[in-house]
Amino acid sequence: MPKTVELIIDGKSHHLPVIEGSENELAIDISDLRDNTGYVTLDVGYKNTGATQSAITFLDGETGILRYRGYAIEDLAEKSSFLEVAYLLVFGELPTKAQLDKFTHDITTHTLVHEDVKKILDGFPSTSHPMGVLASLFCAQTAFYPESLDPNRSTEGVYLSIVRSLAKMPTFAAWAYKNAVGHPVNYPDNKLGYCARFLKMMFALPAEDFEVDEVVADALDKLLILHADHEQNCSTSTVRIVGSSKASIYSSISAGINALWGPLHGGANQEVIVMLENIKKDGGNTDKWIDKAKDKNDPFRLMGFGHRVYKNFDPRAKIIKKAADDVLKKLGVNDPVLDIAKRLEEIALKDPYFVERKLYPNVDFYSGIIYRALGIPVDMFTVMFAMGRMPGWIAQWKELRENKEPIGRPRQIYTGQKLRPFLEISKR
Ligand code: SDX
Repeated sequence: MPKTVELIIDGKSHHLPVIEGSENELAIDISDLRDNTGYVTLDVGYKNTGATQSAITFLDGETGILRYRGYAIEDLAEKSSFLEVAYLLVFGELPTKAQLDKFTHDITTHTLVHEDVKKILDGFPSTSHPMGVLASLFCAQTAFYPESLDPNRSTEGVYLSIVRSLAKMPTFAAWAYKNAVGHPVNYPDNKLGYCARFLKMMFALPAEDFEVDEVVADALDKLLILHADHEQNCSTSTVRIVGSSKASIYSSISAGINALWGPLHGGANQEVIVMLENIKKDGGNTDKWIDKAKDKNDPFRLMGFGHRVYKNFDPRAKIIKKAADDVLKKLGVNDPVLDIAKRLEEIALKDPYFVERKLYPNVDFYSGIIYRALGIPVDMFTVMFAMGRMPGWIAQWKELRENKEPIGRPRQIYTGQKLRPFLEISKR
């Protein structure tokens, strides 16, 4: 007998089914609530609402667990590669060598973008934020690959769109950067690996030899793994709801890129560095800034701290914090803001305001320090997040399609005016 819960409304008893996940998460299935009771639920910001059932990523915010398809993020960050993790997220299993070689080859043969993309890029002034350029270039793929608009595309066609998304994202990202700095774009060098190819497109200059530093490429690969998916976060939920209307993978992910841009979400990594630089300029007075973060009348928040789900350490923050130390040491970089970040963390983790609200460093708190050490400019930090999140967005969009989920259309509670007669303007 499936488990149910009883809801009593106006003296009438309603039994609602309970859904239990593979990690024993519990949900009350309210699919028939309105038909049976006339009531809907209200949960602004979806803090208590599950939008779907998914087999891709599991996270436990209370204990700080994050797993992609059952594999611990700690193992994947240490032992895997970004393209291997991308394959795992999208297809559900770690690839064999032959599968990974084919996947890598297929991606490598699609890194070029249509020459007409340059005409779109030329339309963006160099003052454009790279995230806006990225979202536009990514969506423009619908113009170059109109067959991708077919909502009933074949499996082979969907695979081609998946490969093109992963292959061209670094090219779009690097070109968005070149547009911002007024340099000519570089074409992808397919003799290089995924991250090295991106770094060369980003930083190579005409008439100069460019050697990719393997330490930088390896650090970037680890960062992309750590950002690859995170279940139903804001931008992934955006990809899913756009995809639920049977929009193409390119327009769905372009919407996700825009959602990630916000400072409360993926834009936080950029805001963390701005915050740390301001604290440094202000003489490094960390106590003053912690007090500002706690002051309800002060709009300042400790960026990179707090999380909707993690009420314990974000496991990614732990890995990135250690990687920051390792990478800066290997590169011989001494970044004073790293010490400021560590001091802020130390103070906050003892302060009742943060302890009571279970506010811990999240993935964005230390990532910007590594990006900066890798020579990546601040405006490109969220672009790096988007590049990492690409496999997760693809996997979630693909799962939604395969599960034939209905179009997403939430209800509301109306609080506006009741019916009233139209007044001619002369009588208003
Ligand atoms: C990401 O969802 C995901 O998985 C996202 C992500 C992913 O991988 O996709 O993990 C990536 O987006 C990480 C989060 C990056 N954002 C930031 O670092 C911005 C700073 N953090 C906050 O704005 C906030 O913590 C959120 C947005 C992350 C979460 O907000 P919630 O869950 O809506 O919580 P809330 O805003 O209601 O805060 C609860 C309380 C409030 O105080 P009270 O009203 O109870 O007195 O905690 C306070 C908030 O004022 N609070 C903070 C704070 N974060 C929350 N106070 C000071 N500094 C902060 N950073």
